Amino acid sequence: MKGIILAGGKGTRLYPITKTLTKSLLPIYNKPMIFYPLSTLMLAGIRDILIISTPEDISKFEKLLGDGSNYGINLSYKAQPKPEGIAQAFILGEKFIGSDDVCLILGDNIFYGKTLPQTLLKTKEYIENSDNSLIFGYRVKDPERYGVIEFNEKNKVISIEEKPKKPKSNYAAVGLYFYKNDVINISKNIKPSNRGELEITDVNLEYLKQNRLNANIFDTVFWLDTGTYDALVEASNFVKTVEDREGKRLSCIEEIAYKYNYINDSQLKKLIDSYNNPYGYYLKKFLK
Ligand code: TTP
Repeated sequence: MKGIILAGGKGTRLYPITKTLTKSLLPIYNKPMIFYPLSTLMLAGIRDILIISTPEDISKFEKLLGDGSNYGINLSYKAQPKPEGIAQAFILGEKFIGSDDVCLILGDNIFYGKTLPQTLLKTKEYIENSDNSLIFGYRVKDPERYGVIEFNEKNKVISIEEKPKKPKSNYAAVGLYFYKNDVINISKNIKPSNRGELEITDVNLEYLKQNRLNANIFDTVFWLDTGTYDALVEASNFVKTVEDREGKRLSCIEEIAYKYNYINDSQLKKLIDSYNNPYGYYLKKFLK
């Protein structure tokens, strides 16, 4: 399975912050935002990852993360000329995806929870061994801001609506999607919405029509997005609170790379040496 991080967009809700720097490069407490979605893919055991961002910003991600070899993964990069919708990721990523299945994560989505690694690994395995795609729902107080998933009593999806005025449930579709390879063709066949975007909700509706869409509820995993001023601060505070309290780092890509055996001791040492600060001191603890 391949992974894509969609990390461009206009970020207009965060203007003027995002006028010269794309959202996913902003800090969330002690690391760039992209570390969080990247760590989610790494926890899923996905090691071939395409980062998509704006033509102005893509080289900055490359500068930050290189070809991924420092973390035992393969990173590729692609510019999205204009933010023409989340589903465009599969058209831009067609060559990269090849004949594999694909997991897409939005560059401004943060997931955290003890059960997350296990859920991700299980989901990847499920997708690779079935003909279905899978999305996740998360209970929110303001579902009208999101794609809203309606479930029946057997937890089966019965409808998905993009930013409905009258939401049929409190479950928002989060920015993490597992698809079969035909998501490329499905994305090519949907039409742009009124706001001129290829909507991920339309991709999900097509899978729903084909009776090939599953949705699981994240109830033991936290989901944060970071699209507004308040959400940005709240995410930083959340990360700091958990890190201080539990004495561990959240979404630390170096730690995950080492624990998942993507890198060996000498590679970890090289990473530690590049940080002569608390971030590096934390990593030192893992060296045998
Ligand atoms: P959005 O939150 O829909 O858009 P945005 O981040 O550009 O923000 P705003 O509404 O403030 O203008 O996008 C969710 C994520 O997906 C975000 O990380 C940006 C990314 N994205 C793209 O990279 N390309 C796109 O075409 C779209 C629609 C989003």
